[in-house]
Amino acid sequence: MAKHSTQLAPDWLKAPADLNAISTKVWPATAHRDSAGELSIGGLTVDELANQFGTPLYVIDEQDFRNRATAVKLALTDAAARIGTTAKVYYASKAFLCTGIVPWVDELGMSIDVSTSGELAAALAGGIPAERIGLHGNNKSPGEIGRAISAGVGAIVIDSDIEIERIASIAAAMDKVQPVRLRVSTGVHADTHDFLATAREDQKFGIPLAEAPALVAKIRADRHLKFLGLHQHVGSQIYSADGFVASTRRLIELHAQLLAGGDIPELNLGGGFGINYKLADDAPAVSKTANAITDAVAAECQRLGIKVPALAFEPGRAIVGNSGVTIYNVGTIKDVTLSDAGEDGKPQTRKYVSVDGGMSDNIRTALYEAEYHVVLASRVSSAAPALSRVVGKHCESGDIVVRHDYLPADVAPNDLLAVAATGAYCHSMANNYNWIARPPVVSVRDGKAQLLVRGETEADLFARDVAYRAKHGGARTGSVRNEKD
Ligand code: LLP
Repeated sequence: MAKHSTQLAPDWLKAPADLNAISTKVWPATAHRDSAGELSIGGLTVDELANQFGTPLYVIDEQDFRNRATAVKLALTDAAARIGTTAKVYYASKAFLCTGIVPWVDELGMSIDVSTSGELAAALAGGIPAERIGLHGNNKSPGEIGRAISAGVGAIVIDSDIEIERIASIAAAMDKVQPVRLRVSTGVHADTHDFLATAREDQKFGIPLAEAPALVAKIRADRHLKFLGLHQHVGSQIYSADGFVASTRRLIELHAQLLAGGDIPELNLGGGFGINYKLADDAPAVSKTANAITDAVAAECQRLGIKVPALAFEPGRAIVGNSGVTIYNVGTIKDVTLSDAGEDGKPQTRKYVSVDGGMSDNIRTALYEAEYHVVLASRVSSAAPALSRVVGKHCESGDIVVRHDYLPADVAPNDLLAVAATGAYCHSMANNYNWIARPPVVSVRDGKAQLLVRGETEADLFARDVAYRAKHGGARTGSVRNEKD
């Protein structure tokens, strides 16, 4: 094995003993190398998938999704049952949503959390009953609220004082009583990237603990609102239970205080369970974190002498993150040698492997310095490991898909690469930077592929270009946006 300087490689990154290995730690359940050495998912090889659907391609292992959803639901309901209560489990659809997967969630008896009218429309179109939908968001428009209330969503999460009146007046106009929760910011800074910590003080979500009682009184006083209970979401991609536990304790104290004003049926503790992205990661099982949370719930309720409320959770990433894989085609390759020598005095080289996608299909690396694991997928190789960086085709040096990993040194143009754990927040945050069309999403199961979302075409991109449409036909006047008001 070639000796390499540790300077370019982070401490956590070790050259794997077998570069061709497909570890269950990060890959979906059905992923494996077939007898020819090709990566196969859901019974289809990456070559078959790339030939049929092109690259880049998001692939969702349906069986893996169902397994994880089942396991996560069970972990949360068991954790609740241990303390004598129940847990409603919402799939946080912002992680990944298209109408084709809504029945998967529905069939498992899960609910769905949406945060915009677009997600609401997709959840409804996917066929889940409206009462199993919860609507979030720190700035829901009157149009979004109206649509949610008229559809009959089971819960709307109030995120600010202003929204109380806004939701109540829309419900009143429709002569309805809308069940609502109040999102509270407990001031706990969970151990994750700053952009993903959503209960610390200096951020936009929720109501500070101290202000909550007055707002709950206001909600309770309105006959068009029904107070379901408090809500928290401490952040995302969290491993340590400490932040969840600390925040939950504060929430229960508030919950107990509010019981003086009437019954509170539920307590929603949000999502945020972290997953493995790279081989060095060691995410705790959801059951471990869930049990730590419910232990804290039970202990606090006992200390305060109150009944344990029914619980709700909103996992997204823990369900779909590891079920998704992105397949890319390699275009160009450069070995970049740095002018600074490494600790061993030798020149440092990093292999830049350019693929046919990038920050338009996975912006997480640029946004959160997220790390991913990549393998050469279309063949096995016995070449030495080369420290590599998988980059996209966008006009930006931060356009990185996999910042640090090893690929076989003989990786070549037209090889297919597969990046693991791209099921959550990749397709859902995809964009058209540099007029790049967004890739399709296929689900695979038992040797069959099903197109869930077709890839965009250049025509799709031109469809919104009004001057182009005026010149080439199909001109539209005015603009239609997502349920603006
Ligand atoms: N509930 C609420 C209110 C949320 O805001 C979120 C995520 C979830 C549940 C689900 O969190 P999860 O279980 O998936 O961690 N784009 C970022 C993640 C943003 C998460 C936003 N809210 C990323 O790519 O890591």
